[in-house]
Amino acid sequence: MPRSPFCTVGKVNAMRGAFLAMLVLVACSGTKPKAPVVVAELFDPQTCARCHVDHYSDWAGSMHAYASKDPVFLAMNRRGQRETNGALGPFCVNCHAPMAVRSGTTKDGLNLETLPASQQGVTCFFCHAIDDVKGAHDNPLHLASDGVMRGSLPDPVATPEHASAYAPFLDRDRPESATACGACHDIVSPKGAAIERTFAEWQGSVFSHAPGGTTCAQCHMPQSAELKPIAHLPGLPSRRLHSHRLAAVDVALTDFPDAANQRKEVQALLDSTLQSALCVENLGGGSRVQVILDNVAAGHAFPSGASQDRRLWMEVTAYNGANVVFQSGNVPDVHSPTLNPDPNLWLLRDCMFDPAGAPVSMFWNAASIDGNELPAQATFDPADPRYYKTHTIKNFPSTGGIVSPIDRVTLRVRLQPMGLDVIDDLIATGDLDPALRAAVPTFTVGEALEWTPATAKSVYLNRDTNEYVPCVTTTNLNVQADKVPAPTHARCSP
Ligand code: HEC
Ligand code: HEC
Ligand code: HEC
Ligand code: HEC
Ligand code: HEC
Repeated sequence: MPRSPFCTVGKVNAMRGAFLAMLVLVACSGTKPKAPVVVAELFDPQTCARCHVDHYSDWAGSMHAYASKDPVFLAMNRRGQRETNGALGPFCVNCHAPMAVRSGTTKDGLNLETLPASQQGVTCFFCHAIDDVKGAHDNPLHLASDGVMRGSLPDPVATPEHASAYAPFLDRDRPESATACGACHDIVSPKGAAIERTFAEWQGSVFSHAPGGTTCAQCHMPQSAELKPIAHLPGLPSRRLHSHRLAAVDVALTDFPDAANQRKEVQALLDSTLQSALCVENLGGGSRVQVILDNVAAGHAFPSGASQDRRLWMEVTAYNGANVVFQSGNVPDVHSPTLNPDPNLWLLRDCMFDPAGAPVSMFWNAASIDGNELPAQATFDPADPRYYKTHTIKNFPSTGGIVSPIDRVTLRVRLQPMGLDVIDDLIATGDLDPALRAAVPTFTVGEALEWTPATAKSVYLNRDTNEYVPCVTTTNLNVQADKVPAPTHARCSP
């Protein structure tokens, strides 16, 4: 609800389309209007920075601000436009710089580098003008043309800069807010493949339907402990702020505000995501290593989103004294696990296929996918059989055993937000600067585990063999709970 009526001035700039209407509106709400503000000024995050200092500095170092500057995005879009003879059109940039598409300043994102800040990335204005969600993927978000900044406050103090109003799409305590985030965090490719499914995964999880549920922003936009004004102006009430950093997996690869902190935040979130255990099962005449993983913190699969580009894999090494008697996934940091995969590799990702079923590496070519990510929690009820479906177990080696005695095993869970094979692919076609390769991180998710007979204090009974299996865990994973075999790829390997 706008606090007071709008007045109109006739200042129109070069933009056009549906936004023309809003450009001629002036927010003159509040008690003492200052100089009239053309709504177009609200497009520029710098305008907001004058008052919402903390929100701006959070956002400025976020992937939402980086979305149209990301050199990998620019390279992929450039290649996609070339390979499809421009048929891709605004498909990519419609999510990565939605204001540029809606203002008519770009048709394909190939001119992004020439556009002003008001058109770059997922801006303040774009999110805070959402007044309807008209679908579940490919950014069908509807923006109001009234210049009202929407949020979760039922009682915003009037300001001459903009009118304010409550909207459930911007209230993290309402499920509608997840439909707003989800509309962009869910991609169906032009050929019909459900390439990114974060929203669909969340909808199928306990988080979307448990009493109260947990929305995207309840996890990803944590609330400040301290109460303070949300704008740097005198006389405002103290409130809780919500973080606009939204660090998760991806990181800025080029010079970007607060980039070092972003990597730390990603590491911290990753470290809370999984529970893991490492076991050695005696097979009689040999043994095998077992890795158990549970996605305990993500409100969707893990990895999620751009999981066609992510590489999450297990590095397992078994020793007899100083001798390595088995290894899988031992990949140098400068390497992709897909470049020379071993037969036991546990690699979690999406594979993509063209309409004829042949593998493809770039997602505008994808007509179908095959994924083996860790699923999200489906229920919080331990009596429900689906409760343990997130306890996934994989044997190393996949079949048979290790003949040599084993006295020590190590496990590291490794993650490349963007696989180095994808980076190399973009470098090979001349679309990406080779110098950026060195900036792509390989994270270790959580603590490394070390199994020895002395440290393996958690034990479960294998009901098939009636043998006890000794395990180590540092994350309280209940090794006795039911387990399901790790999801595998039916159509691609690894
Ligand atoms: C001149 C200072 C000023 C500028 C510039 C400004 N705001 Fe605000 N904004 C305020 C004040 C004051 C409030 C109300 C604070 C309160 O009630 O505690 C507010 C409230 C909000 C709210 C909460 C609305 C609600 O009902 O929950 C949002 C969202 C918001 N602003 C977004 C923005 C965005 C986005 C921009 C830039 C396009 C912006 N503001 C620019 C001063 C400003
Ligand atoms: C206009 C579309 C759009 C909307 C709306 C949107 N996002 Fe995003 N979001 C993006 C894009 C594009 C990126 C990726 C930028 C990149 O990596 O280059 C992103 C990145 C992210 C990331 C970081 C992902 C990573 O791998 O590090 C998180 C977390 C996130 N968004 C959560 C949210 C939440 C929560 C909401 C709702 C409050 C939301 N997004 C609304 C488009 C959107
Ligand atoms: C991806 C969507 C998205 C983007 C981009 C975004 N916001 Fe927000 N913002 C939200 C959501 C969701 C909330 C509501 C959190 C709640 O209270 O439930 C919020 C809350 C706010 C509030 C209310 C105070 C608070 O902390 O809850 C202000 C002010 C605000 N944002 C300003 C900004 C500014 C300024 C920018 C750009 C620099 C920005 N936002 C960018 C989604 C976004
Ligand atoms: C219960 C908390 C929770 C909820 C609810 C949740 N997330 Fe996440 N999200 C996480 C965690 C934990 C991670 C994984 C840690 C990481 O990526 O560093 C994650 C990761 C992500 C990523 C990075 C992609 C990846 O590979 O994992 C994106 C993008 C994202 N979330 C968006 C969303 C969106 C959009 C929603 C709502 C539809 C949502 N999240 C709901 C906790 C949550
Ligand atoms: C429906 C909205 C949407 C569309 C359409 C879209 N993206 Fe994205 N893109 C996102 C979101 C959301 C993320 C962040 C997902 C995550 O972190 O898991 C992202 C992340 C990315 C990333 C960085 C993360 C990574 O690891 O891959 C690149 C590069 C990228 N997109 C390229 C593209 C290209 C090229 C296209 C068009 C062929 C495209 N996107 C179309 C929403 C979209």
